[in-house]
Amino acid sequence: MTHASPANAMKKPPRDNLYACNMMPGDFVFDEKVAAVFEDMIHRSVPGYTTIIAMTARLAETCFQPGSRIYDLGCSLGAASLAIASRMRDRTCEIVAVDNSRPMLDGLEERLAALGGGPVECRHEDIRECIVENASVVILNFTLQFISPADRDRLLRRIHDGMTAGGIFILSEKIVLNDPRLNELYIEMYHQFKQDMGYSEMEVSRKRAALERVLLPETLAVHKARLARAGFESVEQWFQCFNFASMVACKRDGR
Ligand SMILES: C[S@@+](CC[C@H](N)C(=O)[O-])C[C@H]1O[C@@H](n2cnc3c(N)ncnc32)[C@H](O)[C@@H]1O
Repeated sequence: MTHASPANAMKKPPRDNLYACNMMPGDFVFDEKVAAVFEDMIHRSVPGYTTIIAMTARLAETCFQPGSRIYDLGCSLGAASLAIASRMRDRTCEIVAVDNSRPMLDGLEERLAALGGGPVECRHEDIRECIVENASVVILNFTLQFISPADRDRLLRRIHDGMTAGGIFILSEKIVLNDPRLNELYIEMYHQFKQDMGYSEMEVSRKRAALERVLLPETLAVHKARLARAGFESVEQWFQCFNFASMVACKRDGR
């Protein structure tokens, strides 16, 4: 398969104005309306998203073990998978991109077709059921927050157990802080970021209401404790911009 650059397939993504209308928002779902504007939405909603994707690809390129797999769980339109495929140009690799939203995977398949293919296998599956095998790199970017907290421990344990010795796990999440004052300040900074990115105060507030029951963030301490319980030997936070953070955890290398 060819490992073409995603830049070739880029056109300006449609603008997200889903919360600009007057209707009361229901719970947020990853349906076709969201998939159609998702690229614009995530860039204007997650401070540091471009950096997180670029550095995720760098980490994957550096830590990938020949003959193993890379998993992108909750891949959406495949930003991380495509960035990694582009970096791994001359190396044989297998990237497994998993999402339970058909419209998101359709978007990723369209992108892959526009690139003339790529080393990415798209799987329409619930990540809680997905079998992770022989993985030296697993990415879970902004997806654990949408999984029921009761299922999170089991999911991370399954991921850990499906990884090769010395493999890395990249976990990016929206987080909350223990200190209520700082937590409020970070949320305020985040809402200002969204307004700087062109969302109105009304759009920010409607989106917040739509996400309230479906996006359940945790503190960094809770994430780190869960990663340790899952069996990871070490974990470091490598990125944070207000209430968005990314961690890298390592599986014991077997030496
Ligand atoms: C915020 S998006 C992830 C963004 C993506 N990782 C990126 O960096 O562009 C969350 C994604 O997780 C998917 N998702 C949520 N729950 C899931 C589940 N149980 N199984 C598979 N995918 C899930 C959603 O369909 C959505 O595409």
